[in-house]
Amino acid sequence: MKTCVLLIITLCFFEKVASHKSCLPFDAIFNFGDSLSDTGNLLASGAHTFLAFGNPPYGKTFFKYPTGRFSDGRLMIDFIAEAYGLPHLPPYLNLTNCKNAHRGVNFAVAGATAIDAEFFSEMGIKGLWTNNSLNIQLGWFKKLKPSLCTTKKDCDNYFKRSLFMVGEIGGNDHNYVAIAKKNISQLVQMVPLVIEAITNAASELIDEGAMNLVVPGNLPVGCSAMYLTAFNSHNKEDYDRHGCLKELNDFAEHYNIQLKLALQTLRHNNPHAKISYADYYGAALRFFHAPVHYGFTGETLKACCGGGGPFNVNISAGCGNIGSKACSDPSTYANWDGIHLTEAAYRVIANGLIEGPFSSPPLSPPPFKIA
Ligand SMILES: *[C@@H]1O[C@H](CO)[C@@H](O)[C@H](O)[C@H]1NC(C)=O
Ligand SMILES: *[C@@H]1O[C@H](CO)[C@@H](O)[C@H](O)[C@H]1NC(C)=O
Ligand SMILES: *[C@@H]1O[C@H](CO)[C@@H](O)[C@H](O)[C@H]1NC(C)=O
Ligand SMILES: *[C@@H]1O[C@H](CO)[C@@H](O)[C@H](O)[C@H]1NC(C)=O
Repeated sequence: MKTCVLLIITLCFFEKVASHKSCLPFDAIFNFGDSLSDTGNLLASGAHTFLAFGNPPYGKTFFKYPTGRFSDGRLMIDFIAEAYGLPHLPPYLNLTNCKNAHRGVNFAVAGATAIDAEFFSEMGIKGLWTNNSLNIQLGWFKKLKPSLCTTKKDCDNYFKRSLFMVGEIGGNDHNYVAIAKKNISQLVQMVPLVIEAITNAASELIDEGAMNLVVPGNLPVGCSAMYLTAFNSHNKEDYDRHGCLKELNDFAEHYNIQLKLALQTLRHNNPHAKISYADYYGAALRFFHAPVHYGFTGETLKACCGGGGPFNVNISAGCGNIGSKACSDPSTYANWDGIHLTEAAYRVIANGLIEGPFSSPPLSPPPFKIA
C-alpha cells in the first residue's frame, strides 16, 4: 500500500497538470459505507472465508464474475458513478493505479458499522464481518489525501468538485443487534449513537474540504427477506398489506426521522456545504408496494438466490454456497440473497435519488441517464 501511495502521488501530479477542466458536475466520488456499496474491499481484505460472496452466482448479471459486490450486478454507487460520467469506483484496499484514484475511491466495506467495533464486543456480540467501521474508513481517506491533492487550496478546489457519499452506513449496527438480541427496543436505544457516528464523520469530511455530501437513511428492513425470516410471526397483525413487518419498518422510519433532524443541525453548523438526505426507504418502498410496475414479477419478498424456506433464506445454505441456487431471471426479483438487493432494485433506487424525488435537497443533475 505504501509504495502504491507514493507512486500515486507522482503520477497524479502529471495527470492533473495534463487534464483539462471537465464539464461534468463532479470530478470524483468518495464513498463510505457497507455492503450496499462495497465494490470489493471486503473481498480484497481476505476476511471472508465464512461468506460465499466471492462465488458465483454473485455478479452473474452484469460483471459476469464475482467482484466482491453483494448483488448479481451493479450497486447504486455504480449507477450513480455512471450517471455522473465517472468510472466505477475502485475499492481502496485494492487500489492499483492513480488514474482510477483521482476520479474517486470506494472505502465501503461489507459488514461495516457506523459505531466502532468495540461497542459490539462490549455488548457481547460476536461475528462482525469486519472491524472496518466508518471511523476506520475515514482514516483511510485521510491517509490517501496527500496523494490526491497537496496544498489546502488545491484540496479545496478538488473536493469542491467531488461528491462524498456518507453511507448508507448504520444498517449493520442494527442488523447485528437485531439478530443477536431479537429486541427492537434495544435497537431504538442505539439510534442516537449510530447517528452521532455518521454526523461526526460527515463533519470531519467537511473540515477536510467536502462541500457536496449525501447521507442516506435506512431501507424498509421490514420488507427484507432476512428480517422476515428472523422475525417470522404467526400473528397476521404484525404484517402490513404488502407482507412487510410493521414494527421493523416503523423502526426504520424512526431512524430516518432522527437522521434527518441531525442533518438539519449539521447544515446549520456548516451553511457552506450542501448536505443531501437520500431517502432509500421511500425509493425502495415503491417497488414493495407496486412490484409489477418495476418489473418485479417474481415473488417480491423472496430472495432470488438462496437455499429454501418461505423467503428463500436458509442460513445453512446461503447464496453462493452448496445447497443454494439463483432464480433464472434476477431482474424479476427485488431481493438478491436475503439481505441485499438485485441490480434491478438498486437501479430503481438510484434512479429515485438522481432523477428525484428521493434526495433532498436534490443532487446535481447528472449528464447521463441511468440505463
Ligand atoms: C484487485 O485488482 C486486481 C488487478 O486490477 C483485479 O484482478 C482483482 O479482481 C481486484 N480485486 C478486487 C477484490 O477488486
Ligand atoms: C475484530 O477485532 C476483534 C478484537 O480485536 C477480533 O477478535 C476479531 O477477529 C476482529 N474481526 C475481524 C472480522 O477482523
Ligand atoms: C428488550 O430490551 C429492553 C431495553 O434494553 C429491556 O428493557 C427489555 O426487557 C427487553 N425485552 C426482552 C423481551 O428481552
Ligand atoms: C436448508 O439447507 C439445508 C442444507 O442444504 C437443507 O438440508 C434444508 O432442507 C434447507 N431448508 C429448507 C427449509 O429448505
